[in-house]
Amino acid sequence: MSEFIQVGIDGGWIPDAGRDAAALRELVNRRLTAIASKFSGHAPALGAAMSEAVLAPGKRFRATLMLMTAEANGGVSAAVLDAAAAVEIVHAASLIIDDLPAMDNATLRRGRPSTHLAQGESRAILAGIALVAEGFRLLSNLPECDAGCRARAVTIMAEGIGHTGLCAGQELDLHAPKTMESVAREQDLKTGALFSAGFDIVAALHGMDTEGSAALSGLARQLGRVFQAYDDLRDVVGSGESLGKDQGLDSMFLRKGLLSVSRQADTLSYYHTLRNDLAAALNKLQFDSRNLSNYIFTVLPIHNG
Ligand code: IPE
Ligand code: IPE
Ligand code: MG
Ligand code: MG
Ligand code: MG
Repeated sequence: MSEFIQVGIDGGWIPDAGRDAAALRELVNRRLTAIASKFSGHAPALGAAMSEAVLAPGKRFRATLMLMTAEANGGVSAAVLDAAAAVEIVHAASLIIDDLPAMDNATLRRGRPSTHLAQGESRAILAGIALVAEGFRLLSNLPECDAGCRARAVTIMAEGIGHTGLCAGQELDLHAPKTMESVAREQDLKTGALFSAGFDIVAALHGMDTEGSAALSGLARQLGRVFQAYDDLRDVVGSGESLGKDQGLDSMFLRKGLLSVSRQADTLSYYHTLRNDLAAALNKLQFDSRNLSNYIFTVLPIHNG
């Protein structure tokens, strides 16, 4: 890939190496802002609800991971940027739906009232569906990709969020009996599957070989587990203000997640064991993963309980 790549926003050319997480997050935010500016053409209130959910201050963790992986493998193309935006848009939809009264009944998201509280339940449901549709629209129009590559991205996302992925995990999270094994499986599906989809799309867009793709998939699976374990811990030890979402909801009110099957101290040591295995998964990657490693372990730090 060339030393400079066109990123498809502002028609600008951006250097192809050395950008840190903050710069990549900013790139994602600019692309999301451009995409969201088109949401309000037909039903302004629906479009505003969609924009608010997408642009609210989230970490953009999934998109940043995708761009960092692309950057370590030659560069961030316009296609990878749109795919990363699609993953963030679908993630935002999953948060709207996760917060609904019929699901977790959460009041706070990203430090703001959850979408159904701010906008009403009917609009929140429609915004969630419209954002999933927008994610698929982006993937089926990825720039500079042939039809086969676009179809592959669409299939990966469908498998990641549908009955073989996120939706299956959410169903089990809400309704299945809880054991340590069942919660771990739920978390692979509800959280890990979207991480996997993001990395698998990058692997497809970069034409990675079977071994390279398998190493990335292994990382995604482990990352989902560590990430959700950390989220479950923060649900107990965090404060609503620093979390930007309701504290104690999963563990105390809904009796879900790791804390429903394991004591806090055990969950903490489980988290650190998973975190060590994550380092092993990072070591198996077939590219220079130092930036990726630093970023991941900053977002998922050692926790003192
Ligand atoms: C929240 O994800 C949902 C979980 C899988 C725990 P994030 O913690 O990435 O949420 P944002 O995007 O930063 O708000
Ligand atoms: C949700 O898990 C995972 C999703 C698919 C959105 P949680 O219910 O624990 O996520 P938060 O804590 O509300 O962000
Ligand atoms: Mg939930
Ligand atoms: Mg929730
Ligand atoms: Mg949670």
